[in-house]
Amino acid sequence: MDLIDDNNKMVLNECIEALGLILEYNLKDHPAHQHAIRVGEGCALVGEKVGLKPKTIQRLYYAGLIHDVGKISIDLNILSKKGPLNAEEFEAVKLHSVYGSRIVASLHELSDMALWVRWHHEKWDGTGYPDGLYKDELPVEIQILGAIDCFDSLQTPRMDRPAHTPDDAFNILNQYRGTHYNPDIIDLVFEMHREKTLIPGRSSEEFLQLKDKYINFPLNGSNDYFGEYYGIMGLYPILRLFARVIDAKHHYTRGHSIRVSLLSGYVAKEMGLSRDDVIKTEIAGLLHDAGKVSIPNDILNKVDKPTKKEWEIIKYHPVHSSEILKKVTPFSDISEIVYNHHRWADGRGYPEKNSPDTANIISQIIAVVDAYDAITTERPYSPAQLPSTAFKKIEERLGSQFNREAGEILINTSPKYINALIDMNVEKFYPDFNIM
Ligand SMILES: [Fe+2]
Ligand SMILES: [Fe+2]
Ligand SMILES: [Fe+2]
Repeated sequence: MDLIDDNNKMVLNECIEALGLILEYNLKDHPAHQHAIRVGEGCALVGEKVGLKPKTIQRLYYAGLIHDVGKISIDLNILSKKGPLNAEEFEAVKLHSVYGSRIVASLHELSDMALWVRWHHEKWDGTGYPDGLYKDELPVEIQILGAIDCFDSLQTPRMDRPAHTPDDAFNILNQYRGTHYNPDIIDLVFEMHREKTLIPGRSSEEFLQLKDKYINFPLNGSNDYFGEYYGIMGLYPILRLFARVIDAKHHYTRGHSIRVSLLSGYVAKEMGLSRDDVIKTEIAGLLHDAGKVSIPNDILNKVDKPTKKEWEIIKYHPVHSSEILKKVTPFSDISEIVYNHHRWADGRGYPEKNSPDTANIISQIIAVVDAYDAITTERPYSPAQLPSTAFKKIEERLGSQFNREAGEILINTSPKYINALIDMNVEKFYPDFNIM
């Protein structure tokens, strides 16, 4: 089986949808038809009215899904603060557009979207950020994205106010005619509002038709970069994009995910797994903790034992990891692996009890390597311990928590070899990784 074949040219589209889900988990913006999707839909509807090219309408829709991706790096306590932000907090929040553009620009197929992400808070009269663009300096896509973002944000409940009705939201938006937004664009947003083609809570018939016409096509187009390369090599650019988003939330996961990926791949190879399974193991290792974006930093950085409620939140991260991976067709098998990465060999562990024989061997490889890495690196609740200590702890739990075969391979590998393996390969994931 190849991870990407001719039937799956939609991989980039699916990845952006998966990124949208990561952001939703991060912001706890769980309703089915959340802000980012509505912004994407509104942009596409107005984009068609403006007469944008089909390809641009499509890209603007996807830009809508990820326009706030940079919020992943902003302190959730500020983002969810009740009441107005002070000047310092506002400056911190403003950085999300610059951070977001850097994340999106890491995949060169998305470089035009990266600019839109950077500029989605620019204003018609030059008072926006980060670059203070003025009138026609704002590309028309940004004029649309900015107005729709504002229109929809007003209809989204916030900590300091309930949701405005669509009519009220439009009246407020209209007060910015000629200041924040181009009057011509405001007119088109009004037309869309009058025609009721953007409906909070679900996609309208008109949007669904537009989706079939412009959006449901491979985003990377005829020059099918991802389809040309099979296996993990072709997926590196996408994997790096995911890793960047996840790491932007929890910096410590950066080294952790890469080490778990490389070392798990090694154990899988030693166990004689097929080449495809080794690749799956490496990808699962890299993305196993993607769902941790739903765990607030305060809980992850806690020195004391988590409370019962906090523990419930922590235990849910493999479910979120698997939901994120399920969005991307070539990763669908991997979604089950990450779901079970905290499952014990004897069926205990979380998210839910399972019989031992249903736990996938790849999940069990990830589980033992994950434990090794957690023990040998510094965590808020414990200093880094020696590899020999980790090996001892793993040995004591062979057959109960850990798979015997995978565990034995790991504890019979020299820590010098483990370090060398990681040092040699780390640049594949992070060309700029400074491990020393
Ligand atoms: Fe924003
Ligand atoms: Fe985990
Ligand atoms: Fe982990």
